[in-house]
Amino acid sequence: MLLNNKVTIVTGGASGIGEATSRRFAQEGAAVVVADTRLGKAETVAADINDNGGHAVAIEVDVAEADSVAALVDSAVTEFGRLDVMFNNAGTLRPGTVLELDVDDWDLVMAVNVRSVYLGGKFAIPAMLASGGGSIINTASISGLHGDGGAVVYAASKAAVINLTRAMSTDHAADGIRVNAVCPGTIETPPVQRMMQDPVALERNLNAHAIGRLGRPEEIASAALWLASDESSFVSGEAIVVDGGLRAQSPLGRLADPRPTHLR
Ligand SMILES: NC(=O)c1ccc[n+]([C@@H]2O[C@H](COP(=O)([O-])OP(=O)(O)OC[C@H]3O[C@@H](n4cnc5c(N)ncnc54)[C@H](O)[C@@H]3O)[C@@H](O)[C@H]2O)c1
Repeated sequence: MLLNNKVTIVTGGASGIGEATSRRFAQEGAAVVVADTRLGKAETVAADINDNGGHAVAIEVDVAEADSVAALVDSAVTEFGRLDVMFNNAGTLRPGTVLELDVDDWDLVMAVNVRSVYLGGKFAIPAMLASGGGSIINTASISGLHGDGGAVVYAASKAAVINLTRAMSTDHAADGIRVNAVCPGTIETPPVQRMMQDPVALERNLNAHAIGRLGRPEEIASAALWLASDESSFVSGEAIVVDGGLRAQSPLGRLADPRPTHLR
């Protein structure tokens, strides 16, 4: 039980990576606030956690709005008495080059993906200080490490999340608050499953991950769990890549194949 007696908030907790992480945090002994714009789905996740012996509540939040995030943190502290872990995970994507992307979509993605992390820190850190410290985890992406085309604002927003993570960690590590990011590769969550119905996109993504498959939400939940727990007590300001070998792989794949042709 890596999170015994810890109180955690998971934004975007109704689906995908956030849902898997909410379930995993609860299995590890945490009380979990499942926070999402989609309250009905968040309530289903929280009810399932409670039915399986865990402790969870669902709260509606818009992570881009200051009042909403402030109310979320207040509700968590009122419900469970303290706050130890904030997983700023909710995010969104709008495709487009700079020529294609609408200005409103630029603003939306920057608000949901980046302003949310600023707001999550702004309101969670005082509650964590009152609890004696804590761990903030931000969901970035390998798109924040590359110049992926076709989704310029997503790539820019996730790069911003990584450097905001570093800056927040510099400011608050000495107060006992660690701030880290996780950078997933392509993970089979509902929006990605829809994108992978295109066979060309699926093949490109399978080839990009050296492991030869897409990631599972539970595999990002494992990384978030480690960052949330005291097992990572000397880790702060890092962006942990969980990408099935995507970044390690050269676009060439193998330079040479040492195996004789008849054995391949
Ligand atoms: N799936 C991937 O391949 C992948 C890869 C890298 C990074 N990510 C990041 O992981 C995070 C989770 O994505 P996912 O793939 O699990 O998607 P998902 O759609 O399954 O889950 C995202 C959840 O966030 C919620 N949400 C969206 N906007 C919100 C807002 N303003 N306030 C509160 N909740 C909001 C949605 O309702 C949804 O339940 C995102 O930040 C995404 O950018 C995903």
